[in-house]
Amino acid sequence: MEELQQILEQALKQFADTTDEAELEQVKARYLGKEGSLTVLLKGLGKLSAEQRPAAGARINQVKQGIEAALQQRREDLQNNKLANKLAAESLDVTLPGRGLGTGGLHPVTRTLQRIEQLFHSLGFATASGPEIESDFYNFTALNIPENHPARAMHDTFYIDSQHVLRTHTSPVQIRYMENNQPPLKIISSGRVYRFDSDATHSPMFHQVEGLWVDEEISFSNLKGVVQDFLKRFFEQDDLQVRFRPSFFPFTEPSAEMDMSWNGGWLEIGGCGMVHPNVLKNVNIDSEKYLGFAFGLGVERLAMLRYGVNDLRQFYDSDLRFLKQFN
Ligand code: DAH
Repeated sequence: MEELQQILEQALKQFADTTDEAELEQVKARYLGKEGSLTVLLKGLGKLSAEQRPAAGARINQVKQGIEAALQQRREDLQNNKLANKLAAESLDVTLPGRGLGTGGLHPVTRTLQRIEQLFHSLGFATASGPEIESDFYNFTALNIPENHPARAMHDTFYIDSQHVLRTHTSPVQIRYMENNQPPLKIISSGRVYRFDSDATHSPMFHQVEGLWVDEEISFSNLKGVVQDFLKRFFEQDDLQVRFRPSFFPFTEPSAEMDMSWNGGWLEIGGCGMVHPNVLKNVNIDSEKYLGFAFGLGVERLAMLRYGVNDLRQFYDSDLRFLKQFN
């Protein structure tokens, strides 16, 4: 009887010391397994006398029940602990802020285009547009650049077929607009243009803004005033200087290249001139009655200067680290 009491106490203590279910099963075997101490005692009952047997049997069964109950209790405790540990380890703090979706932003060239358009709108210019795949006629011939004219060679043209090109400049929009509208005309047209050229200051695709103002009394000084006013406002510099250098374009006469003051020097930003009478004739506008000026500006050049970007190709590398700086 004393031994039984010891066995019970020892079993309860050993159960309590187990740390997982596998270990608990091992400890259980020490008492209830085939060779377990309680099993051995049960087997030994036969050796007892008939008088001793019932009391001993009852006591053994009692201890066995006590052990089984303790075993079951410990098993549940271990399972609960395991679950609690798992929950603690995998806990999720639902009060933390989410990562969120990155917000997009406008591309720096798009922002520049919008700024340019807004400024010209405030000067009374309307907006016109034309196709990027352009016919040879609109891109060249109607602009007084006939076949075999040397100016064609300067354009590094991408040909689609013998009659179609990726437009090399926005000037063909002048023709399209004048074909369909009568003076007075006062428009700008911005968009993509294409040339077979690529380095730090040239990209095979880039943007131009074309300006055109045709009316009865338009002069070169109107051109100077408009361009100068635009540039001063675009760069927010009241003392910005603009210089016009005599140049040649087939579609203007006289023609000039425009430079603006920058860091103590001059930077070329586009071409301009008075619309050539041949161009007006090509669109049936009376060149005796009407005069006009036109200009073309490089948009990337303006964006580079405004944002301090020194390699034009960065605009088109799609590197988010670069692009995010403009948001
Ligand atoms: N189309 C010319 C070019 O891409 C730029 C230009 C020069 C446009 C003179 C004009 C202009 O409208 O009058 O090189």
